[in-house]
Amino acid sequence: MTCSNSGLCLDRNLGRGRSVEIGPLWIFPSGVCGDVLGEENTPPEDNTTPDERPERNAGPPSVLLVDEDGASVHPLPARGTLTIGRGEGCDLKVEHASVSRTHAVLEVDGRRLTIRDAGSVNGVRLRGRRLDPNEAQVFGVGEVVELGRASMVVIAQRLSTLAEAAAAKPLDVGGAVVAHPSMRALYALVERVAMSDINALVLGETGVGKELLVEALHRGSRRASQPLVRLNCAALSPTLVESELFGYEKGAFTGALSARAGLLEAAHGGTLFLDEVGDLPAALQAKILRVIEDRQVLRVGAQRTREVDVRFVAATHRDLRAEVQLGTFRRDLYYRLNGIVLAIPPLRERVAEVRPLAEHFLAKARPGVRGGPLDPAVVAVLEAHDWPGNVRELRNVIGRAVILAGDGPITLAELPEELRLRASRPPSDAPKLRDEMGAIERRRIEDALARTNGNQTHAAVLLGMPRRTLVARLKQYGLGRSQRREEP
Ligand SMILES: Nc1ncnc2c1ncn2[C@@H]1O[C@H](COP(=O)(O)OP(=O)(O)OP(=O)(O)O)[C@@H](O)[C@H]1O
Ligand SMILES: [Mg+2]
Repeated sequence: MTCSNSGLCLDRNLGRGRSVEIGPLWIFPSGVCGDVLGEENTPPEDNTTPDERPERNAGPPSVLLVDEDGASVHPLPARGTLTIGRGEGCDLKVEHASVSRTHAVLEVDGRRLTIRDAGSVNGVRLRGRRLDPNEAQVFGVGEVVELGRASMVVIAQRLSTLAEAAAAKPLDVGGAVVAHPSMRALYALVERVAMSDINALVLGETGVGKELLVEALHRGSRRASQPLVRLNCAALSPTLVESELFGYEKGAFTGALSARAGLLEAAHGGTLFLDEVGDLPAALQAKILRVIEDRQVLRVGAQRTREVDVRFVAATHRDLRAEVQLGTFRRDLYYRLNGIVLAIPPLRERVAEVRPLAEHFLAKARPGVRGGPLDPAVVAVLEAHDWPGNVRELRNVIGRAVILAGDGPITLAELPEELRLRASRPPSDAPKLRDEMGAIERRRIEDALARTNGNQTHAAVLLGMPRRTLVARLKQYGLGRSQRREEP
């Protein structure tokens, strides 16, 4: 199994009962649940014509179960009735405290899917409405059914081929270079997630390509012909934000000369991309949560609400789970947005992508000029860098090199000095690994203390380390009292 720190693990030799783990997402190879379901999966009836049914959608549907800890995919039989719940005897087991022992019953009849609340405590919700006890509702592939705080989506195909997808040739994903196995697996997953309506949370350091991935998710969805609206949550003006988001009616305030739709309405039928969602102010977190739950917006000054059909995709470079624990991000909103987590590994963990990315940016910067492969010495220097700014930093380095080189070849001389020096430093000069790790740890601790205003308990939560360890590290790194404000 190959693993990266970003939490992406990919097992190329999936055996029966083993899983692929992508961040907090677990994907079980097909057949794992066959025993549970007790029948072979035969292709379901399909009322669509072969033209309407692309090859990638062929095959029996699967159900994607998402709970607090992640997601699992289970193939469905062509026909049958399955119990869903926390109880041992259930056909589809969901490990979540908010799910009753027997929570719901799913009936599969070819492509016809019916869900029934089996007397659960926390209810079954479909299209924002809680079903009555024992009420049965027909729902479609891609629709999200909420079971307490967990959710399920039926997808039109098996998710058993991620390992194959990862081993395949680079994908064409609309301008993005996707060459490393971890990224191929991730983009293969994006393609499948796109087909459902589940909300997605995209995680990754700055410049890793979160926005590009969200674009791919939108393009691959049934919403592709409708708008993808981006809201930068880090740059919201408190005075304008409400009218920007929700729109307003004529005369709602001085200067409202005519009615105007807000961003949420503008995204109707499409996708709303909440970029830097970790920076969403608390008051707006509550309002966005309400829209996700009710699928309705109320313009400023309006009397009646309007329906909106929007898929929410959020992105952040922050550790939202830790923010939830600290109470700076609403837990309920986190679970609404976190239908599925798509975690992009930093560039330093996919070094094999540095050269194709550099050549891609070179070709873009010099359209019409024959680039050819980059000089191996240049590639070696680029591959040795740890890219804290990720792909964006690489794009800037190539852009600068192109300006300096004119139409000539890119040589070491056109690379920033810092990169060249680092690569050429003899091994004896290189900092010891332990020192380097220590420096990183110290930086992270300082950052956590700054963000928690010196509160050690909160900083320890952000860092994911016991408070006692944090106190020991503060002593070890000689961090001053100013950063070590004692708890009240
Ligand atoms: N795989 C890729 N192939 C080609 N270009 C890429 C790839 N990944 C990122 N880029 C480019 O790198 C730049 C940064 O990407 P993007 O804006 O998607 O990053 P981000 O994760 O959203 O960053 P931030 O957290 O700062 O918002 C963009 O110009 C984007 O086109
Ligand atoms: Mg971005």
